[in-house]
Amino acid sequence: MQSITTSAPGKLLLMGEHAVVYDHPCIVTAVNHRMKIRLFLTDDNQMTLNAPDVEVMNYQKSVSSLVSHDMPKGAQFVEIAVRNFFQTYHLKQGINITSTSDFSSQFGFGSSSAVTVATIKALSEIFDKSMSDRELFDLSYKTVLDIQGKGSGFDVAAAVYGGTLFFVTGGKRIEPISVQNIPLVVGYTGVKADTVKIIERVKKIADQYPIFVEGIYGLIEELVKEAKTCLEKNNFAEFGKLMIMNQGLLESLGVSTEKLSQMNSGAIKAGAYGAKLSGAGGGDCMIAVAPAEKRSEVSTAIEKSGGTIIDVQTNTNGIRVE
Ligand code: MEV
Repeated sequence: MQSITTSAPGKLLLMGEHAVVYDHPCIVTAVNHRMKIRLFLTDDNQMTLNAPDVEVMNYQKSVSSLVSHDMPKGAQFVEIAVRNFFQTYHLKQGINITSTSDFSSQFGFGSSSAVTVATIKALSEIFDKSMSDRELFDLSYKTVLDIQGKGSGFDVAAAVYGGTLFFVTGGKRIEPISVQNIPLVVGYTGVKADTVKIIERVKKIADQYPIFVEGIYGLIEELVKEAKTCLEKNNFAEFGKLMIMNQGLLESLGVSTEKLSQMNSGAIKAGAYGAKLSGAGGGDCMIAVAPAEKRSEVSTAIEKSGGTIIDVQTNTNGIRVE
């Protein structure tokens, strides 16, 4: 029995969150925490899924009735990825899928996007359908939108292409940024953020104060462009200053929390060049950029502010067949 295993990386958003939902750029880096998919064909006309990390065991659905509702939350992305792949290539075939993860889906590292990309890549391999990175991005992004309805797709791009990317909404631009390993310290708040809810909250503020919020997004875009130049020069001290400004703008949108702010200011007091929340806000992780000699003080300060340090390498490989 032939089986295929693929893996796709999670991500950290370095700069540009929220603005990137509305046609502005962001910078995202792929991280060394990966989602793995193992897949083989069966002759029972069923999709069988095991995803022990999200407590999905022996979940079965006829391949003729894959839909976007009526399924456990942990199965959604795989099931809709399979449906979209089968529709695109006019296929119907029993398959057995197992997904495993290097990281907790609580961190906000993009496990949904990574599992979607890994599933579609595994299907394209086993059915011998060659897909370009762009086609893999487009079908994976469609899958995420079919389920969440919202999102810029930056996390899907990180899972496909890897590295560190300059990304504009929906993949209008996906450009690698040449940077060495970013000296990042990552702190987890212990709180799982609800990205879709937070996007909706920000939208309400934008509907009420469109001029102000567009102004904020415009400033975030300028920060992102400047930050790209800093990364290309490996100038992390300047990059840190821009992170602090970006955090200020995110605070003005109301997406930070007391804990995130405390963790950020703790890191900066301990010698980080800069710190900010990463992702939607409301919880998940913060990131700090710190000189090597301050790394351990910065980590301790984040822990003292109630965070948990997560060991993360940035700028890692995109999707691959194992
Ligand atoms: C969430 O991780 C980042 C947001 O910008 C949403 C998105 O870009 O999909 C808030």
